[in-house]
Amino acid sequence: MDRKILTLFLIFGSFCTALSGDSCSLELKPSRVVVRFGEPVSVSCVATRPVRVLGWESAIGAAHTQHDLSVQWKVDSLIDWIEEPICYGVFFTAPRQCEEKLNLVLYKSPDSVTISLNHTSTMVEGKEYQLLCDVQNIAPVQYLTLRWFRAAVEVYNHSFSDLTPSMPVQVSSTLLITPSVADNGVQYRCVAELELGAEGPHPPPRVTSQPLDIVLHYPPSFSVPDDETLELGEGGEHTLNCTAVGNPAPIYTWTSPPSQAKMEEQPLFTSSALLPGVYTCTASNILGKKSKRFIIKAKP
Ligand SMILES: *[C@@H]1O[C@H](CO)[C@@H](O)[C@H](O)[C@H]1NC(C)=O
Ligand SMILES: *[C@@H]1O[C@H](CO)[C@@H](O)[C@H](O)[C@H]1NC(C)=O
Ligand SMILES: *[C@@H]1O[C@H](CO)[C@@H](O)[C@H](O)[C@H]1NC(C)=O
Repeated sequence: MDRKILTLFLIFGSFCTALSGDSCSLELKPSRVVVRFGEPVSVSCVATRPVRVLGWESAIGAAHTQHDLSVQWKVDSLIDWIEEPICYGVFFTAPRQCEEKLNLVLYKSPDSVTISLNHTSTMVEGKEYQLLCDVQNIAPVQYLTLRWFRAAVEVYNHSFSDLTPSMPVQVSSTLLITPSVADNGVQYRCVAELELGAEGPHPPPRVTSQPLDIVLHYPPSFSVPDDETLELGEGGEHTLNCTAVGNPAPIYTWTSPPSQAKMEEQPLFTSSALLPGVYTCTASNILGKKSKRFIIKAKP
């Protein structure tokens, strides 16, 4: 209950036993309205006992009546962020005066929702980065939830219920990430959602940022890093597979037993004329290099 109304009730309550509960003999229909910026709105104020004057106090749409039990507050296009319409009644009997404040929520979807990285270059594994989501011109911010998505999964949400302005504001949220190889190519998004309650639009107004692509640089690694030993059989082709994963894509160099012909700079080496000895392959990129040995044994 509004404190002002409560005070009125406490003063008059003892004189008027007919006054029930929190009623001030005024009823707003609807009692809570959620209006999109620039849209029309109308609310009726109804007196439940004979009234001398019944009216709306408001910067726009003020109105009053001296004979009806109902008066309407009506605005064709609501654009006033500080509007706080109050319906008042002056009655013939006690309590002679009371008022009811309209629970009015004027809202506006954000002009933009943008996601960015606090860093211009690509990311490297194991380091911490800050993603920033910036929301421009949203109101009322206390109904805003900013949701962070990694691919399709919500990873974090941020509410602003502790803020009070009714006018449009700019807000932002940050998300700290420490990307791993699994994050390479993943998209992050942030979604600004206005949850305006039962009287608000369903589904709630939502604005989604452009996706932010995670591009992760990491050094080469082998799925099987150990030495591989191969026994030469009867003829046939043999393949030495040095494929490594890394970003940027690794480049490969080989060293081979002395009499082996020069080898291509490829991850796969296929030959029907392998020589006994050690073939070493090195996969490298800007972040590092890894080597792997293939030990070729003569057939017993
Ligand atoms: C980005 O944010 C992270 C985490 O807060 C910080 O460690 C790093 O220094 C920041 N980088 C830049 C370029 O501001
Ligand atoms: C925010 O996230 C928490 C857990 O991460 C979840 O329990 C909560 O329901 C979310 N809040 C909203 C408003 O979705
Ligand atoms: C080589 O190894 C990689 C990774 O270990 C594997 O994905 C690929 O299929 C292999 N290629 C051949 C031709 O065996």
